[in-house]
Amino acid sequence: MDDFDRNLLPPQKFQIMNYSEKNFTAIGRNHLDYFVKELGLKPTDNVLEIGSGNGRIASSLTGYLKSGSYIGVDIMKPFIKWCQKAYNNYDQFSFKHINIYNKFYNKFAFKKARNFKFPFEDKKFDFIYLTSVFTHMHSEDIDNYLSEINRMLKPGGSVFITYFLIDEETKKLMEEGKSTRKFIPYTENSYTDNPKNPESAMAFDKTFIELLYSKNNLKINNSSFGKWRFPKLHKSLNHNQDRIVAVKM
Ligand SMILES: C[S@@+](CC[C@H](N)C(=O)[O-])C[C@H]1O[C@@H](n2cnc3c(N)ncnc32)[C@H](O)[C@@H]1O
Repeated sequence: MDDFDRNLLPPQKFQIMNYSEKNFTAIGRNHLDYFVKELGLKPTDNVLEIGSGNGRIASSLTGYLKSGSYIGVDIMKPFIKWCQKAYNNYDQFSFKHINIYNKFYNKFAFKKARNFKFPFEDKKFDFIYLTSVFTHMHSEDIDNYLSEINRMLKPGGSVFITYFLIDEETKKLMEEGKSTRKFIPYTENSYTDNPKNPESAMAFDKTFIELLYSKNNLKINNSSFGKWRFPKLHKSLNHNQDRIVAVKM
């Protein structure tokens, strides 16, 4: 835990995925390491996190974004309120609640993600990221978010997003019981592992997601599968979900 600010550790009631303290900080650090070494994140960058949750990734950026800025947005008000308090001493960090409907996370809201306009100006951010957020959203919502991401990114800015992506090989692995999840078709291009509450986990055809990037003028630089798809084969990976990195064209 060395230099980690313990004020940024959420209380038990805000631990969405039941991580231990050690996992919470390790996941944050792994992401920071990846953002800096692989994606070229700079301490001066302006960063937007969509679906910032309990600050799991934000906490690791506090020691790095010295003269840049970080904004986290989320649809869960209690998370945002907690983060606003916990990060009070970090001038470059701010959190904003966006009241959007999601059957799993925010079922009493009315606004829809598919036509939501983020309250930020065009070309504001160098880097935007979403971890384990599009895994809880529908395809029309993702389409609009990608369009908004394109609008909010500076030219040449990049976006990192995690998914559950389905291709023929993944279907076979799920069929053979080798994956940690078994998604079933939900719409023409999406899947869920819980039809009663689809937003609890959504997956998409990989080719469909690639088309959405191209439609929204985002050029995919890197796309890689995560551990969930076949843990025995991907033993050395330290990330569970699939990843796509793209730049604004
Ligand atoms: C599994 S949690 C992941 C939280 C965080 N990204 C992390 O990796 O620790 C999913 C998050 O997505 C948020 N979320 C769901 N739908 C959203 C939407 N339409 N816009 C923004 N955030 C959303 C939820 O409120 C929740 O905090």
